[in-house]
Amino acid sequence: MEALIAFISFEVPDMKLFTERLILRPFQETDPDDLYEFLSQLENDEFEGYPGITRESCLEHLKQRVGSEEFYAILEKEYNTEGRLHMIETERLLLREYTPDDFDALYEILSDPETMRHYPAPYDEAGTRHWIEWNLENYTQYGFGLWAVVLKETGEFIGDCGITIQNIDGKMLPEIGYHIHKKYWRRGFAKEAARAVRNWAFQNTEYNVLYSYMKHTNEGSWRTAMANGMKKVKEYPDPKNTISYAFAITREEWENLKRKNADIV
Ligand SMILES: CC(C)(COP(=O)(O)OP(=O)(O)OC[C@H]1O[C@@H](n2cnc3c(N)ncnc32)[C@H](O)[C@@H]1OP(=O)(O)O)[C@@H](O)C(=O)NCCC(=O)NCCS
Repeated sequence: MEALIAFISFEVPDMKLFTERLILRPFQETDPDDLYEFLSQLENDEFEGYPGITRESCLEHLKQRVGSEEFYAILEKEYNTEGRLHMIETERLLLREYTPDDFDALYEILSDPETMRHYPAPYDEAGTRHWIEWNLENYTQYGFGLWAVVLKETGEFIGDCGITIQNIDGKMLPEIGYHIHKKYWRRGFAKEAARAVRNWAFQNTEYNVLYSYMKHTNEGSWRTAMANGMKKVKEYPDPKNTISYAFAITREEWENLKRKNADIV
């Protein structure tokens, strides 16, 4: 019942906001029934202000509040969210903001030479700490960053995926990045997370093009970009990567994909 109390938005169906005790999730068809039952059980004095409660009036009440200024004001006051949403849910994954507690699990990934073979070097402890701090700053500055990727079934942290602003051949551009623990490679997790991030970005930012870039040898990365509906738009010399590939998808291409090919969105 707690989960009923607040709702995010009709337009962002895969967003969830987790607080210490509450899950704020999108409105669902069955919610008016639950709300009706809930309100009907309240004591009379608590019932004031809700005269003549019916299932239909519950539905109307929910519809009016979802996404309203008042709704977000309540969220900000109660949960100190600053209107920012913290959670994306997919079939098997939750994407949430990093916390300093993720250090050990992240370090296992970023310090592994095989995982980081397309990077100049694996990360040390200081580099890993900086990675988390950089993303906490990103959330504040942009409202997005790399988000921790967690298995819904077990709660295990298995990597990250999200958007950061990257220098791609001299231009600062929004880039979808992903890093998955090697024991979970080739099970479609990067693809699943990247698609959700792409959808989130087109739904919640003004960007009309989203990018992924990588060292030319990083086939897993560029295949994930392709699985995310992106096409190669550039190949350029890059001191860090020898040669980098840039992949991209436009908002228009994404809209077309949604119309034509539901299983890639
Ligand atoms: C790149 C990475 C995130 C892919 O994660 P993953 O969960 O194994 O990827 P998925 O299982 O979702 O696969 C996505 C696509 O890439 C393909 N793919 C993944 N790894 C591959 C590899 N090593 N070689 C060739 N293709 C690969 C998959 O077959 C799939 O393609 P499909 O949709 O056509 O079947 C993972 O290899 C990784 O964490 N690498 C180290 C960090 C890194 O380099 N990140 C990218 C920085 S630019």
